[in-house]
Amino acid sequence: MPPLFNFTVNYCRDLVFFGVLPYLKRNSNRNVFQHLIIWFIKNIRIMPLIAIGSDHAAFEFKEEIRAYLTEKGYELKDFGTYSTARVDYCDYGVTVAESVARGECEKGLVFCGTGVGISISANKVKGIRAVVCSEPYSAKLSREHNDTNVLALGARVVGIELAKMIVDIWLNTGFEGGRHADRIEKISNYENTH
Ligand code: RB5
Repeated sequence: MPPLFNFTVNYCRDLVFFGVLPYLKRNSNRNVFQHLIIWFIKNIRIMPLIAIGSDHAAFEFKEEIRAYLTEKGYELKDFGTYSTARVDYCDYGVTVAESVARGECEKGLVFCGTGVGISISANKVKGIRAVVCSEPYSAKLSREHNDTNVLALGARVVGIELAKMIVDIWLNTGFEGGRHADRIEKISNYENTH
């Protein structure tokens, strides 16, 4: 089964058994309408959940981007690293990419010194199309034409203000579909058969 399907089924099951049923038990005095309003307020996510991760070389860079996006109202899941102690970029690239591939997070942001190692790592995860960018044009086109779901930036390459601009454009640009979707499908077919 595709990971997104499994994730949805598991999510719905957990929601019923660990969310809805215990909740109804605790609040049996409320009517259905009140239950629905409370559920809506608690669960509806206005902004997409974004996975974020970096190695030590980009730790401070990640913190700045995280603060910037949080300030804008994005919800972020931070997969580390959490200090400047030396780590391996591949662990963070893969972890962020897996959370996107299984549908837990809608998109992923990954950072290392150059953005190269962590983008290569993310691209090893099935279903991931990671782009490493150092300017906004590629970031925009990578969304419109390639439907990229992970953006990699190099903390030693891109200044923080340019990085914010790239992240903004990448997060706010949609996939054009059409002929581009056929090409993405070819990539997925290769990925699924080799
Ligand atoms: C760490 O020194 C550095 O190699 C890493 O951050 C990254 O640039 C790898 O691609």
